Amino acid sequence: MTSFDPSAYGRRVADGYDDSTRWLGSVEPAVAALAGLAAGGPVLEFGIGTGRLALPLVERGIEVAGIDGSAEMVDLLRAKPGGAGIPVRIGDFARTRVEGTFGLVLLAFNTVFALPDQDAQVACFRNAAAHLAPGGRFVVEAWVPDPGAFRGGRSVQLVTAGEDEVQLQTAELFPAEQFMRVVKIQLTDSGVRLLPATHRYAWPAELDLMARLAGLEREHRWADWSGTPFGDASTDHISVYRRPD
Ligand SMILES: C[S@@+](CC[C@H](N)C(=O)[O-])C[C@H]1O[C@@H](n2cnc3c(N)ncnc32)[C@H](O)[C@@H]1O
Repeated sequence: MTSFDPSAYGRRVADGYDDSTRWLGSVEPAVAALAGLAAGGPVLEFGIGTGRLALPLVERGIEVAGIDGSAEMVDLLRAKPGGAGIPVRIGDFARTRVEGTFGLVLLAFNTVFALPDQDAQVACFRNAAAHLAPGGRFVVEAWVPDPGAFRGGRSVQLVTAGEDEVQLQTAELFPAEQFMRVVKIQLTDSGVRLLPATHRYAWPAELDLMARLAGLEREHRWADWSGTPFGDASTDHISVYRRPD
């Protein structure tokens, strides 16, 4: 039994979340790819957050629902134009169910690693599969683990260096458990902000096995949302799993 609290992340970072993700740039390639894969939808987003991807999907006329552990993140989504119309259930997306079946379930921006252990991640894949219509897709966006970036189990990384904001990330690695504690450090004229998180990381092949356990087949693996082929040098992946017809 785990003491994992799916509301913890949002409680710590919600009010700084949109600012801290601005460096990611345009969501257009992701939204275009997702709209194509959804084949009309509807879409269910696990960890819908403040609607970074969900709101542009709705603007494209796709029906979107969400599950999120954080009332604070979802309050910010609901305050945005179009946000109040998106049905969101508060709960742990590893196990929480919503009504209906979906053409696409989305788990973006490394959020699969927010789950605390392998059991929770396997449960999450099964929960995604249970929400899919036949032929529906589960799309997972995640980074590729890079233990070589650590010295003595620690790393400091420059995330972005803008004129108005610099972001660093410190991380501690616990390889036996495939676990990391990270703190994003935002430096701006108004001060310093610490955004802590934990990751139970997994290599793409382990995620493929979780998909198989859930009865899903891998359809695509890209290095980015534009569909660049995934290869040895890829640092991130978009993996598309499909429920057989
Ligand atoms: C990194 S944010 C991503 C938000 C959004 N998908 C995006 O791409 O900007 C992760 C979101 O997942 C939620 N979350 C993390 N673990 C969760 C869990 N086990 N169950 C439900 N929500 C969770 C957090 O509250 C947060 O809103």
